[in-house]
Amino acid sequence: MKQKIPFILNGKDVSLQVDPLKRLIDILRDDFSMISVKEGCGEGECGACSVLLDGEIVNSCLIPVGTVAGSSIETVEGIRDSESGKRIIQAFAAEGAVQCGYCTPGMMVGAEWILRKYKNPTAEEIRIALSGNLCRCTGYDMIINAVEAAVKGGEL
Ligand code: FES
Ligand code: FES
Repeated sequence: MKQKIPFILNGKDVSLQVDPLKRLIDILRDDFSMISVKEGCGEGECGACSVLLDGEIVNSCLIPVGTVAGSSIETVEGIRDSESGKRIIQAFAAEGAVQCGYCTPGMMVGAEWILRKYKNPTAEEIRIALSGNLCRCTGYDMIINAVEAAVKGGEL
């Protein structure tokens, strides 16, 4: 049975009459046009569907929308215009961290999470923090370099 689920999406109050068991990834893409959120595996293994849920990185393919009532969800559509988001985009471009681009939104969400969580992460800490996000193209080094460059951009 459908229920009204209110939550905050990229800083705006939204609500939806929806089956609470529907996956968060589906309502973000289909009902709110947040098409940065990609489906890769659909099983919590690849990170392509990463979003921030109350500031923590989660796989939106594993989250029933009924569990996010009252929570804050952030996607790349919300992150990209912030200071940190602009810095991440610039660093990914400068370091050549984008090839096919399928993993990029999930990686950017991961990068934003790292910038908020760590003051001065090492390459190893960045690698571990992004270990839930898979990339078939880059071999990861350029992505790690980009996140390091974004971190070194200074205090936010
Ligand atoms: S699509 Fe969600 S983790 Fe792969
Ligand atoms: S750039 Fe192609 S999967 Fe990462």
